[in-house]
Amino acid sequence: MKIISIVGSPRGKKGNTARLLNEVIKGAENMGAENETIFLLGDLVLPCRGCDKCHVKGYCFQKDKYEEIKLKILKADGLILASPNYIFNVSAQLKSFMDRCCGVLHCMEFYGKYGASIVTSGGGNEKPIADYMNYFLITTGIRPVGSIWATMGHLEDDVFTKDICHKAFGLGEKLVKAWKQKKQNKNVEKKMEQFRQRMQFLVKYRKDDWLYEYNYWKKHWRMP
Ligand SMILES: Cc1cc2nc3c(=O)[nH]c(=O)nc-3n(C[C@H](O)[C@H](O)[C@H](O)COP(=O)(O)O)c2cc1C
Repeated sequence: MKIISIVGSPRGKKGNTARLLNEVIKGAENMGAENETIFLLGDLVLPCRGCDKCHVKGYCFQKDKYEEIKLKILKADGLILASPNYIFNVSAQLKSFMDRCCGVLHCMEFYGKYGASIVTSGGGNEKPIADYMNYFLITTGIRPVGSIWATMGHLEDDVFTKDICHKAFGLGEKLVKAWKQKKQNKNVEKKMEQFRQRMQFLVKYRKDDWLYEYNYWKKHWRMP
């Protein structure tokens, strides 16, 4: 299994989020997976400009690394998202990446892959953020297998407890197992199907404007 991990912390490799991600990767590698981590540092992925061109042409005109990252994900089997809690949400860096995936969502272009989400915070409130990240994965067509988080303020010297490391390792293993066994979860399937129907309606409604997306749907999904 080939995994792409995206870290939304400007603190990069040394940050808490990347350190927690490493524990998840250990579990995935233990099951034979390969991982490549991408750090959304500086202006690697700029914010969406709302020009709608991705819906028409299928790619973004901004000159940054977004299209390169999208291609890496398309070629991979799994996607892990990792973010610090920035004011009760993902960081702006990760949100920019998510927004840039708007066209991917309309076509659910990452369909068939598996994923997971990771959050670290100073004081808590991680679950709604992890749930949001996993819902984002679903809307791109990725099946999330779970999430892990850590509240740094509860830890001594910012060292993850054995329990957190154990859970993170388990999440990495679970991700690879789910991909190998093509596992499906009722709740995830329901949310994915609801979103798929919504996008089918939307893309059909905008078919004269969003040519790339309409043609993608005709080719890859059912378009009545
Ligand atoms: C701009 C900013 C906003 C933050 N907002 C919150 C917050 O709302 N709640 C919280 O518990 N921690 C918050 N934190 C703390 C970070 O989530 C926490 O330190 C996290 O582990 C940092 O991860 P990193 O080292 O990977 O960047 C914030 C930190 C920054 C820099």
